[in-house]
Amino acid sequence: MRHGGRLLVAVAGVGAGVHASPISSPSQEVDLSWHAPAQTQLNNLTAVLTTEGVPGFFYNSSDAPDGKYGAYTFCNMPHVRRAEYVVAPSEYELVFVEVLHRHHKRTPYASTSFPIEPYTWDCDGQQLFFYGQTLASANSTAHPATPAYWKGYTSSLNPFHPYGWRGTCQFPQITSPGLADSWQHGADLYEVYHSLLNFLPPRDDPHWRNRVVYRVTANPITSQVAGMVINGMWNTTDAVPLLIETAAIDSLEPHYPCPAATKLFDAVRTSDAWKEHLRAAEPLFAKLDMVSGVPRGSSYHDTFDGYFDNLQARMCHQLPLPCREGKGCITQEMADAVCRFGNWEYSRIYRDDQGTFEASAASFGVWIADLAGHLRRAMNGEGNEGGMLWVHNVAHDGTVSRLLSVLQIDEMFWPGMGSEVVFELFRMKEESGGGYFVRVLFGGRVFKSSNPNLGVIDLIPVERLLAYFDGLVGQNATLVASKCGVS
Ligand SMILES: *[C@@H]1O[C@H](CO)[C@@H](O)[C@H](O)[C@H]1NC(C)=O
Ligand SMILES: *[C@@H]1O[C@H](CO)[C@@H](O)[C@H](O)[C@H]1NC(C)=O
Ligand SMILES: *[C@@H]1O[C@H](CO)[C@@H](O)[C@H](O)[C@H]1NC(C)=O
Ligand SMILES: *[C@@H]1O[C@H](CO)[C@@H](O)[C@H](O)[C@H]1NC(C)=O
Ligand SMILES: *[C@@H]1O[C@H](CO)[C@@H](O)[C@H](O)[C@H]1NC(C)=O
Repeated sequence: MRHGGRLLVAVAGVGAGVHASPISSPSQEVDLSWHAPAQTQLNNLTAVLTTEGVPGFFYNSSDAPDGKYGAYTFCNMPHVRRAEYVVAPSEYELVFVEVLHRHHKRTPYASTSFPIEPYTWDCDGQQLFFYGQTLASANSTAHPATPAYWKGYTSSLNPFHPYGWRGTCQFPQITSPGLADSWQHGADLYEVYHSLLNFLPPRDDPHWRNRVVYRVTANPITSQVAGMVINGMWNTTDAVPLLIETAAIDSLEPHYPCPAATKLFDAVRTSDAWKEHLRAAEPLFAKLDMVSGVPRGSSYHDTFDGYFDNLQARMCHQLPLPCREGKGCITQEMADAVCRFGNWEYSRIYRDDQGTFEASAASFGVWIADLAGHLRRAMNGEGNEGGMLWVHNVAHDGTVSRLLSVLQIDEMFWPGMGSEVVFELFRMKEESGGGYFVRVLFGGRVFKSSNPNLGVIDLIPVERLLAYFDGLVGQNATLVASKCGVS
């Protein structure tokens, strides 16, 4: 591990595009080492154990509390919106945007149900379309398909009742209110990047399809969100492609084999800090188990992942916390403690533990290199030729967390539903000095990194961010296989 030591790399300036500035810096030295995040109440175990509630954090509604848009609202995290968006100074011209966000609110996973679930969860008011068809352009006599959709079903005589959750949803499935949040997310982005900035084309411009790319993971919930986001942006019900990589090597989820990263992430769970928090959590687990029926020795006690996922979904959908005959209920105080532990764990896994910085860079490095490639292509003027303006990724908390880890966010927490990171690439007008600059927005606000070379990522020279990415993962991801231990 690179304890404390600075690892500096010198990288030649990359302003090689047609709009390269004559005065862009000739080389960039960038600090590639891990920097500890800020010490806050989120990553302080004493505070986790003694605080009441979750101050400043909200888990019970998609709507921000009055006047608090931008606060941490787990069920529907803040994103770029017109009301809060800060327009860059006029000498900066937006040339490319890449967005990555978590899917919106959903049912829990089947794997995070309790052995004893007090009520069913139904999704009868929704349709999950899934069908294939041959394009007329590929075979003009091919028959069309009927838009077929999934309808949840369990035979009443099936003796193998599913563990825990019962009901007609796929567990997980984006819920109707989660679909509404997804649509609004798309509409808000279009409002900023078209209506306010005139960057994305108008909806009636037939060429918009050539300017944008949407990408999802193999988990169907990301496609459920994408369909709503796209309608919110483009108001179309015509088919739109979603890029999807083979699940086994998907760089977005991410899911390619990276045993070295797996080992580093696993090491967190055998660390003293992790063991200490689990010991401190024993009384809470005992109270939760009493209601949930989770047995001793269950993996629900290795991390708060299971309890957190189960309870957040109820709270986000205003469903009651569970009770069990004769055993009492899971109280709001217990749920609040689960949320505090959840934030502590995410900070521990992605930021406080030094080894996981390398793990994030390795396991998410292919996506990072793709992003760097998109920035370079835009700098080479591709967007001018009717090319790509917008790349939009819909993914998971593990995706967003790895990105926050790579960028070394100053204060880490569990990235909630719809949690969004936006990379904006600007070209400075020649008369103002030229060159390319990048701004990173997280939850609609400028990103703050603990790495002093990145700092507040607000119109920093793009060469610095590219040098950082290249140093960590290699241009075109050339370092990733060896960092993952698979080359
Ligand atoms: C952790 O939180 C406790 C209680 O809020 C506080 O007394 C202590 O100073 C904090 N520790 C650090 C390192 O900030
Ligand atoms: C949500 O939680 C906040 C603070 O924890 C509370 O003030 C508010 O009344 C709650 N809202 C609902 C709908 O339960
Ligand atoms: C085109 O579709 C028709 C109707 O399904 C089918 O009979 C034919 O084999 C297809 N042609 C090709 C080249 O796949
Ligand atoms: C969306 O499309 C529908 C049908 O084409 C149209 O009636 C409606 O006005 C459009 N909405 C917006 C916001 O453009
Ligand atoms: C990365 O890939 C691009 C496109 O394939 C290529 O033009 C470029 O030379 C590659 N760079 C390196 C350092 O391999």
